[in-house]
Amino acid sequence: MFSRYKKSGAAQAKPVAKNAKAAPAPNVAPAAAQAAPKPTSLRRPLPTKPGQVAPMDKERKRKERLAEIKLDMHRALLDNLNLGALDTATEAELRAEIGEITAEVLNERSIVLNREDRSTLTQELYDEVRGLGPLETLLKDDTVNDILVNGPQQIFVERDGKLELSDVTFKDEKHLLRIIDKIVSAVGRRVDESNPYVDARLQDGSRFNAMVPPVAVDGSLVSIRKFKKDKLGIDDLVNFGAFSEEMAAYLQAAVACRLNVIVSGGTGSGKTTTLNALSSFIDNSERILTIEDTAELQLQQIHVGRMESRPPNVEGKGEVSPRDCLKNALRMRPDRIIVGETRGEEVIDMLQAMNTGHDGSMTTIHANNPRDGISRLENMVAMAGIEMPLKAVRSQIASAVNLIVQASRLQDGSRRMTSITEITGMEGEVISMQEVFRFQRVGLSPDNKIIGHFTATGVRSHYSERFRLWGYDLPASIYEPVTPE
Ligand SMILES: Nc1ncnc2c1ncn2[C@@H]1O[C@H](COP(=O)(O)OP(=O)(O)OP(=O)(O)O)[C@@H](O)[C@H]1O
Ligand SMILES: [Mg+2]
Repeated sequence: MFSRYKKSGAAQAKPVAKNAKAAPAPNVAPAAAQAAPKPTSLRRPLPTKPGQVAPMDKERKRKERLAEIKLDMHRALLDNLNLGALDTATEAELRAEIGEITAEVLNERSIVLNREDRSTLTQELYDEVRGLGPLETLLKDDTVNDILVNGPQQIFVERDGKLELSDVTFKDEKHLLRIIDKIVSAVGRRVDESNPYVDARLQDGSRFNAMVPPVAVDGSLVSIRKFKKDKLGIDDLVNFGAFSEEMAAYLQAAVACRLNVIVSGGTGSGKTTTLNALSSFIDNSERILTIEDTAELQLQQIHVGRMESRPPNVEGKGEVSPRDCLKNALRMRPDRIIVGETRGEEVIDMLQAMNTGHDGSMTTIHANNPRDGISRLENMVAMAGIEMPLKAVRSQIASAVNLIVQASRLQDGSRRMTSITEITGMEGEVISMQEVFRFQRVGLSPDNKIIGHFTATGVRSHYSERFRLWGYDLPASIYEPVTPE
């Protein structure tokens, strides 16, 4: 009855493979390694590695059995489905079809599954045929921020700033490569031995990077930064404790009064999220141009032009670098330019733009503190091949950049704005800076959560007068240090 998608005269499905590859046994550490250290040791006991935690036996057996059946059903499906007709099938038709084939094959082999297992199986098979296989469940899980695949048997996810090993796996490297290929071919790219790494964007907007063997030694490496439809706004970030109400008021004044802002931070520290939130302070009447490698920003304003740079194609042609986009943007009458991340020679044009009338521009850089951020800018200028004395480079940076906002992911997984630092000019050969707000750490709670509070440092903003002239007269109280009761 499911004739439309069923191949005519399809080969009978093969019997269940008895020795289908079972999931690898959990990596149980030798007893000696798990023994608690002697009480005399000054060291803390080592944390248990996720791979060492033996899953509940019953649950593991159930998963292994399901995996075995799924593998076999997948083969049966590929034999039975008319893949050519799949593209035109609606979701409901395809689900019904898979449900029927599944029921038929299970029946044929006298396999009894409970309702829950059966619906999991049908869903997984559907994901395999239509979607991105094992990745689908993780992509649908809203609590997951990042998905990190280290070869077919190991998929880590990030939840609440912490990495954990998921129980999702691929069948083997071939399976993983097939899914990678499905993703990259959909955006007209290719990945193979001669082009071993690739950036792409998933249909839902998530940022995707893959690297395949032999460059990836133990199997393909995939990193996905999931796209959040509802970006965290200023209020969310204040509620989450990412920064204080006073800092938000200060940042509003800084952005509205067109200070040039750099958001600095490590990988995944929340730079793009902060940049996006800061952009909400830009007035609706302004023309904003954004330049990114992978379009992640979601600006709320009405007048926004978005650009995405492009790497060279397989023949090494067609590259449009961030610098190309930036140069072009300057001819497009922008009021503000937002560059998703400055990491190379585009730094020259960015500094020039900030210095020549496009004030109020913003970007992010990869650095662990504001002072390092400045050094990163200096290095980028040097590496762009500009022959300029260091002092001249520094004075260019000092007059271009007004503010560095430091985003950090702390050891307990929380993301916070750990510093707001102003650039105040040059003193001799050195760029002078003053910290206006910071996160003051005071300790660690018994459950390893960081204890601390946001505070002003007591210095008044270098830009107070400008704020006042622009109508943002911040009360002097926001610059007073906070002493927690
Ligand atoms: N204050 C916060 N509280 C909770 N989650 C946050 C916070 N800031 C950012 N996130 C989440 O953390 C993840 C990483 O954030 P984001 O993409 O902004 O980091 P990034 O520094 O730009 O990373 P990358 O270096 O990879 O570009 C996202 O999923 C984001 O939603
Ligand atoms: Mg980012």
